[in-house]
Amino acid sequence: MLARRAYIPDEFQSDEVLDSWPLTVPCVAQLAETGIEFERPITFLVGENGSGKSTLVEGFAEAWGLDARGGRAGRKYVNDRPKTPLGELLRWDTTSTGARHKSGTRTKRRGYFLRAETAFGFMEAVSGMRGYWEEDTNAMSHGEGFLTVLSAMFQEPGFYLMDEPEAALSFNSCLRLVNLLYDLGESGAQVICATHSPVLAATPGADIIEVTDDGFQRTKWEDLALVDHWRRYMNTPEAYLRYVTNK
Ligand SMILES: Nc1ncnc2c1ncn2[C@@H]1O[C@H](COP(=O)(O)OP(=O)(O)O)[C@@H](O)[C@H]1O
Ligand SMILES: [Mg+2]
Repeated sequence: MLARRAYIPDEFQSDEVLDSWPLTVPCVAQLAETGIEFERPITFLVGENGSGKSTLVEGFAEAWGLDARGGRAGRKYVNDRPKTPLGELLRWDTTSTGARHKSGTRTKRRGYFLRAETAFGFMEAVSGMRGYWEEDTNAMSHGEGFLTVLSAMFQEPGFYLMDEPEAALSFNSCLRLVNLLYDLGESGAQVICATHSPVLAATPGADIIEVTDDGFQRTKWEDLALVDHWRRYMNTPEAYLRYVTNK
């Protein structure tokens, strides 16, 4: 483990900050109040669209020194943009390993923020660059290329943030990602991952934080609304489709 807790110091919590986005998002308001603890090497953030998962993950990435638009620690490959508002406010409580890691030189610091929206652009930008991967990702499907990139990036312990990495992946590729994530967790790395995938969220040993309109809370995989919906939909799609199509 590298990071134990993210929080917003009291001195940053002015009325102006508290009354404006992103502190107006319930999960961020709760984070300001209590901080958010990380107890296991892999943590999934699960919740509806708009609940604030991306806002959290981007803030976490930026506060750790990773590029919030997606990318490797200390490596800038797209235009510079200002920090995310949450990234500026957040601070990390680290383990001693985490403190060494975070203060390491930019090139030594292993970490990566992977978001589906920018991953493909990133793959193109770095394909052929030394030190990334041997395989020609242009000759692969998106999903295959994505997994190649992931396994190359994730070879060393570091801090990895992901936002819906399942977007390009088939069911079987998701299982391979579970395998990768699991191995990463075992190797001393830390992963925080926003996901809508019940497959990913079932990674053994992972912690799950559900993000809702009320804030966030730890929960178990089998108690997730997401899992319940998928299970019921797979069993009886008609029960849902009746409402969706009014038929
Ligand atoms: N730059 C922004 N400025 C203001 N509101 C934003 C901004 N980005 C996202 N939001 C809002 O913050 C909320 C959380 O968004 P987001 O973190 O993207 O949710 P999720 O990733 O869980 O779908 C949404 O209501 C969204 O409309
Ligand atoms: Mg999102």
